[in-house]
Parts: sequence; structure tokens; C-alpha cells
Amino acid sequence: MEHVIKLNDIRKSYNEGENKLEVLKGISLEVNEGEYLAILGPSGSGKSTLMNIIGCMDNFQSGDYWLTDNYVNKLNDAQLTRLRNRQIGFIFQKYQLIHQYTVLQNTMMPLLIRGIPRKKAEEISMEKLEMLGMKERAHHKPNELSGGQQQRTAIARALVGSPKLLLADEPTGALDRGTGQEVLKLFKQLNEMGNTIVMITHDLHVAKSAKRIVKIIDGEIFEGSRDEIEE
Ligand SMILES: Nc1ncnc2c1ncn2[C@@H]1O[C@H](COP(=O)(O)OP(=O)(O)OP(=O)(O)O)[C@@H](O)[C@H]1O
Ligand SMILES: [Mg+2]
Repeated sequence: MEHVIKLNDIRKSYNEGENKLEVLKGISLEVNEGEYLAILGPSGSGKSTLMNIIGCMDNFQSGDYWLTDNYVNKLNDAQLTRLRNRQIGFIFQKYQLIHQYTVLQNTMMPLLIRGIPRKKAEEISMEKLEMLGMKERAHHKPNELSGGQQQRTAIARALVGSPKLLLADEPTGALDRGTGQEVLKLFKQLNEMGNTIVMITHDLHVAKSAKRIVKIIDGEIFEGSRDEIEE
């Protein structure tokens, strides 16, 4: 099977005066096309650090990273930006929508950055918004939406460029329980439609909705059977 992500012995540390703080201590992880993986770990375990590396937003001291068939180690900033735009759809805890823009304008952003003509970008974006039940809200601004609607807008934006990977960091963290469940249901459907999803969370209940769970503890990855993970 085709890997989407392949991490080999990734290490990351920060220098704190005399001391070196090792945050990722040799992470190896493979995620194949069509998988739905949750990376579960407590606060400070290195989740966001790992997400930033997977998302090509941060560097690392050693190890190898392939995103699809791109060897990330070798890419310069312009190449990383392009790779990020084309291959990853990001979903964040706090949605990270642009407040002056409408739902539609937010959704179109990744396509406009790619140089797709406005009319075509609008068309594709409206399709995604319709799929997510957001068509009626297309011309509203984020502050006129509920949290769940804002997150669905962010999901439309993540999907619009047909990325190889959906990368979500605590996507239900700012939502009430019921709305969070709806977002997780949506993730399940998106995965059934063939999308590869990596979701980062500290919440076991959230992680359980994924098909595969790995734990990150103190900068190390552990994978076991579901029963072991759920202990
Ligand atoms: N820029 C930085 N400089 C120094 N130390 C850092 C930096 N960024 C993160 N760290 C440290 O790295 C460790 C892992 O941080 P990280 O943000 O990845 O944790 P996390 O699992 O995302 O936690 P949370 O669930 O609270 O978001 C922490 O000990 C943190 O203090
Ligand atoms: Mg974090």
C-alpha cells in the first residue's frame, strides 16, 4: 500500500541554556492511504511539535520524513510551502478562519493560492460547502456562525484542494460534546470516502472514533492493540 506519511527516527530538541530538552525522541511512524489515525497523548508529550513537523511547518534535527513521494528533508522553504498547500488540509482546534472574509472566501483560499481562477475556485468551494451543509451560510462571516459551523467551514477549506492528507489538531477541542460528536461523525464519513486522516488529541473518547490509535508519551510513540491503548 502507498504511504502518505513515513517518519523514520525523527528527533527534535530545544536548547535551554546548558540543557538540551528532547521533545521527540526518535519517532517512526507510517500512515498509509485511506487510514484514519489518532495520535493520543497528554499535555506536553510532543503532539503539537509532531503535528508541526508532519505539516511541514517546523524542522527537526535528525531522521527522515517522506510526505507521499516527497523527501521533505531535502526541500527548501518555497517547496515546503507548495507541498503544504497541495498535499495537506489543516484543521485546527480554533478553526483559524479569516474574520474579514466570508465562509466562501475562506473556503476558496487554498485554491486561490494555487492560482486557480476565481470562478472555478468558487464553483469547487460551493460544492464542498454544500456537502458540509454550509451552502446557506456561504456569504456569512465567521462571527455570525456557531462553533460547529465554523469548524465545518474550516473542514471545507481543508478539503477544497483535494489534499492527500487531512491533518487535524484537537478538532473538537473548542466544541461542546454534541457538536464535537457531529464533527467526528463527519471525519468518519470523509474517511469512508477515501480521505486519509491524522488527528491529534489528548482525549481517549475522541481518539476512539479513529480506526487506528498510537500513543505519544514523553516524545515516544507506542502502538499496541486497541485494548492496550485503552487501558
Ligand atoms: N519553542 C519551544 N522551545 C522550547 N520548548 C518547547 C518549544 N515548543 C515546545 N516546547 C516543549 O516541548 C514539549 C512538547 O510540547 P508540545 O507543544 O509538542 O506538547 P503537546 O503534546 O502539544 O501539549 P498540549 O496537549 O498541552 O498542547 C513541552 O515540554 C514544551 O514545553
Ligand atoms: Mg499541543
